[in-house]
Amino acid sequence: MSSASHPTSLFSRNLRKNYPVAVRGEGCWIAADDGRRYLDASGQAAVVSIGHGVPEIGRAMAEQSNQIAFAHTTQFHSAPAEKLASRVLAIAPRNFHDGGRVYFTSGGSEATETALKLVRQYFLETNQPSRYRIISRQQSYHGSTLGAMSVSGNVARRAPYAPMIPEWGHVTPCFCYHCPFGKTFPECNLACADDLEAFLRANDASTVAAFIFEPVVGATLGAVAAVDGYTARIAEICRKRGILLIADEVMSGMGRTGKPFACQHWGLEPDIILTGKGIASGYAPLGAVLVAPRVAEAYEKGTAAFMHGFTYQSHPVSTAAGNAVFDYLEAHKLFDHVTPAGEALRKALSTIESHPHVGQVRGLGLLQAIEFVKDKATREPFPKDAGIAEKIRQAALEKDVLTYPTQGCVDGIRGDHILLAPPFIITPQESQLIAGAIQLALGKVFPT
Ligand SMILES: Cc1ncc(COP(=O)(O)O)c(C=O)c1O
Repeated sequence: MSSASHPTSLFSRNLRKNYPVAVRGEGCWIAADDGRRYLDASGQAAVVSIGHGVPEIGRAMAEQSNQIAFAHTTQFHSAPAEKLASRVLAIAPRNFHDGGRVYFTSGGSEATETALKLVRQYFLETNQPSRYRIISRQQSYHGSTLGAMSVSGNVARRAPYAPMIPEWGHVTPCFCYHCPFGKTFPECNLACADDLEAFLRANDASTVAAFIFEPVVGATLGAVAAVDGYTARIAEICRKRGILLIADEVMSGMGRTGKPFACQHWGLEPDIILTGKGIASGYAPLGAVLVAPRVAEAYEKGTAAFMHGFTYQSHPVSTAAGNAVFDYLEAHKLFDHVTPAGEALRKALSTIESHPHVGQVRGLGLLQAIEFVKDKATREPFPKDAGIAEKIRQAALEKDVLTYPTQGCVDGIRGDHILLAPPFIITPQESQLIAGAIQLALGKVFPT
């Protein structure tokens, strides 16, 4: 990002880079100390749902902080955490309604970490101590802690730490555009879902505790939704094998895809749902693990004590932010606004679809992505070193539009896309600005 050079004491994401200081947020826009206003087309990594700078949220947080900012969860519960837990369960799939529980964390990685331990202890509580492995999918992302990385399939993010993380098994994702089996839906008969069954048959299913997946893969594949029938087949395999099913909705949950949780597009009822990001729209660090009654009941009948904890779990101020964001989503009917806003964004992006290097524009609701390919007919990706996604990001930035680039969607290394996940309040005019910036970026990165 071009900016005045700032001396910094922060251990930044990239120590060679200068970062402008974000000074004010307003709706879909961020103003920085470099004098520029940026259009936040990616919601800062699919976090910001209600928009930046909503004063009610800060007021609710201040009020809670003045009343009681912190009370340790070994000794107290707090009213905002109780309230948010029941609200989140009420919008979750039906199987969470009667007796579900919520474990609040400070973000998505902690939610994944919590779920991994929660399922392990579930099998101890139910007298099945052989079960501990958690199977996941290639090209997925479940967080940056060592536990979360062990289930992540994002090759680049795992690579440096490979010696430190266990490998429990990764099966193929459901990704028709680059089908790992070279098949076409629906004639494929969901070969990707059956890959889980094949893996379990070949790899001692009696040691498997859970399967974790993103119903709509966010960062790594770039807004790839499961096809019809996939989640039902996966659920059936898990049920048959006595394996718990975890839906990671850290990115796709809390309305981002047009339903409160993406798994509701297919009527899926997982045992555990992880969410984060949009749950407090970036106003406070917050994540959540939704636990279905049958899992909670195993604990109730067993030791009742989960051997896990964070000092800041269920934080009163963070959950107060979550409630204020929830109030705002409801008052402004923003859950219902995502689908039409997503359609407007998609329509705006239709102008770039014919570009010879735009392979696919895809996604659900306001979780969308554009994949760039070297050859549109064969869907061949660019070599990694060409750095296309990053070049597009930089070129769009010249028009003050912020996007989220990633590589690796095809095979973990190759494949370039940018993710678009703007706040739910994005207007059709702002969507036009996003599409215009990407069109210009395409012209710059691929001059004719
Ligand atoms: C699907 C998914 N799970 C987990 C995480 C980790 O969340 P956090 O970065 O809040 O720790 C992310 C973050 O991008 C994510 O997209």
